[in-house]
Amino acid sequence: MTQPMLAVEVDNISKSYGARGGSEEILRNISLKVAQGELVSLLGPSGCGKSTLLSVIGGFVSPDRGQVRLNGRAKTSPDRECVMLFQHYGLLPWRSVKKNVELGLERLPAKEREETAMAYIRLVGLEERAGHFPHQLSGGMQQRAALARALAIRPKVILMDEPFAALDTFTRYYLQNELLRIHAQEKPTILFVTHDIDEAVYLSDRVLIMNASPGQIRREIAIQTSRPRDRGSADFQHYRKLILEQFELTGTQPSEEFSI
Ligand SMILES: Nc1ncnc2c1ncn2[C@@H]1O[C@H](COP(=O)(O)OP(=O)(O)OP(=O)(O)O)[C@@H](O)[C@H]1O
Ligand SMILES: [Mg+2]
Repeated sequence: MTQPMLAVEVDNISKSYGARGGSEEILRNISLKVAQGELVSLLGPSGCGKSTLLSVIGGFVSPDRGQVRLNGRAKTSPDRECVMLFQHYGLLPWRSVKKNVELGLERLPAKEREETAMAYIRLVGLEERAGHFPHQLSGGMQQRAALARALAIRPKVILMDEPFAALDTFTRYYLQNELLRIHAQEKPTILFVTHDIDEAVYLSDRVLIMNASPGQIRREIAIQTSRPRDRGSADFQHYRKLILEQFELTGTQPSEEFSI
């Protein structure tokens, strides 16, 4: 059988930050692989280094040891092939939705730029709001605008850092479905950070479970149920329980290290 093409390869990444003259190890020997078109979640407690790991993969932070390869090439700085979507949207408040989405498209001629931006605004269902400014949008709409902006530059890899964490349950479920629809349509590779176990099971092909101090990947769980997934199904509960067990949250003994 032929191996799937790898979009992201992380080899033995370690990273420490200096603190009060000392040094705190944040990531230790992290290795992972994400195939092209795969949707993989990184799940772990607050402070375990998920954002740091995404920033290393995105080329925003240099590791102390190890290497990141994107589509087979060493990656050491940010580029258009791999975009990062932050939790707090990062929209420019003085630009409309359309002008925000056009941000990464400057190299296109004006007409094409506008058409491309509108195509992605339609894809995320915001066409009626294209002329609105971020402060006129709900949080969910702002997140959709940020997603349109990321998708418009046709990145091969999208790094998403808890993009739906600040949203209410209804909007979060809605955007999870939107993300799956867009993923099925455009097939980008997605590395998705979350500390929501249900979200990880609902979205992912695989879930990588991290623990803290230092951040390490302790286990990988492939979610082998077809989509759309039913949160109430026995399969879903099986994976949920499997993950909870990793965090020692199902038994009677509370664990500080894994409280999420
Ligand atoms: N630039 C920095 N300088 C010093 N320490 C940092 C820096 N960035 C992150 N850290 C530390 O690294 C650790 C991991 O932070 P990180 O933001 O990666 O965690 P996280 O898993 O994303 O947490 P959360 O789920 O709360 O977002 C924390 O202890 C944090 O204080
Ligand atoms: Mg974080």
